[in-house]
Amino acid sequence: MTDMSRLLKPVPRYTSYPTAPHFHKGIGPEQYFGWLAALPPDAHVSLYLHLPFCDRLCWFCGCHTKQVNRYDPIAVYLEALTTEIRTIGAIVGERPVTAVHWGGGSPSMMTPEDIVAVNQCLRTAFRLTPDAEFSVELDPNDMDEERFDAWSFAGMTRASIGVQDFDPKVQQAINRIQTFEHTKGVVDAVHKRGVKSVNIDMLYGLPHQTEAGAVETARQVRSLGPNRVALFGYAHVPWMKKHQTMIDENYLPDAAERFRQSLAAAAVFTDGGYDRIGFDHFAMPDDSMAIAARTGTLARNFQGYTADRHDALIGLGASAIGRLPQGYVQNVVATHEYQRRILAGEGALERGVGLSEDDRVRGYAIERLMCQFELDFSDLRHRFGAAAEPVIEDAISFAGDDPDELAYLLPGRLMVSDKGRPFVRTVAASLDAYLAEDKARYSKAV
Ligand SMILES: C[S@@+](CC[C@H](N)C(=O)[O-])C[C@H]1O[C@@H](n2cnc3c(N)ncnc32)[C@H](O)[C@@H]1O
Ligand code: SF4
Repeated sequence: MTDMSRLLKPVPRYTSYPTAPHFHKGIGPEQYFGWLAALPPDAHVSLYLHLPFCDRLCWFCGCHTKQVNRYDPIAVYLEALTTEIRTIGAIVGERPVTAVHWGGGSPSMMTPEDIVAVNQCLRTAFRLTPDAEFSVELDPNDMDEERFDAWSFAGMTRASIGVQDFDPKVQQAINRIQTFEHTKGVVDAVHKRGVKSVNIDMLYGLPHQTEAGAVETARQVRSLGPNRVALFGYAHVPWMKKHQTMIDENYLPDAAERFRQSLAAAAVFTDGGYDRIGFDHFAMPDDSMAIAARTGTLARNFQGYTADRHDALIGLGASAIGRLPQGYVQNVVATHEYQRRILAGEGALERGVGLSEDDRVRGYAIERLMCQFELDFSDLRHRFGAAAEPVIEDAISFAGDDPDELAYLLPGRLMVSDKGRPFVRTVAASLDAYLAEDKARYSKAV
């Protein structure tokens, strides 16, 4: 019989392996610069730039950001960010940059002049390929004609638009008021400027949200015709994000209701012709993410699922995380300390983790499970030789003791069952060598 408490046990989201709580201060700027310099000359590079500011604070928000009501802190931050861009760009040199992602926080808060100037600096410091993807997280409430023009001029190819939920009662409970009409205006405005790809984020598990309400929001989102949708479960972690204490826990849906909301909202997208990607994304069949899922090249990074294949992900800005062939790295989180270190000529790198051979095998196996819902043992052996064996043993032993029937064995592979797909994080956790000793707390599995 299914034990829901086992299924809903908090597990990591596996946007990296080892997961972020295992990053440590033993990795510093010098090692990081060495790792960067050792990248092969033709390594494909992806850039993530973080703007940790918003002009309002949504109470559900789990991102690294803070509210500002003046522009000066952003101007000071951008001075540091452009300095870091130039420093890292000088090391990376001519290696091709195939993708840029601006996240936050709200990069949409920058003035049009700064949007143009910072991206000009980026293009001078790095060699962006002519077909590089360029995505930007836009808070619809920040946007005006000049900002649309500036991001379009900067080269935006995908707008990632936060919706969360359209029900006014939910919006009030999360302190994020945003009408459907205004959001539609943002989608129209980016389309008008030739931006072909739109991603929309929506959430389930929010205070006052109901199954019917999640379906209604999903229908409204679908009517906007996004190429991609991210359907995230609200992660309530008030012990880490103080402002989430503003959310009245009495109105949060319980685990079973969250699960129903996720299934019902998902059905709106699959019924509307979207392919289901991993456990929390949807994409139109002609979108690069759907193509990557079909061809087995879908990957996972700190933004979640991605179709972008790169050899190195470089994070720029406070709290930004990067992934290099040698390991993971993260810049210092506190904005002031980030600025101080960068402007003092010190590196902003705060922590990281070098990858052991076992980390690589388990990281690859977990990524394949999360992206493809299966793990091919011969592929693992082919890539990693004898180091694959302990991981294969763990996979076989999970399937042998799986009362919830989340996964099963076929000759030479572990398959996640249809029932197990929403719980793929739990299957992946069976391959996580760190978890047993882990004291870190994670958000709910669904
Ligand atoms: C950096 S934020 C959004 C960018 C932009 N500032 C906005 O609000 O539209 C990226 C996305 O993370 C998701 N997110 C933020 N906090 C979350 C939480 N506590 N649980 C789950 N998803 C969350 C939201 O869907 C949000 O749109
Ligand atoms: S959801 Fe977006 S706008 Fe709201 S606080 Fe978080 S980053 Fe800022």
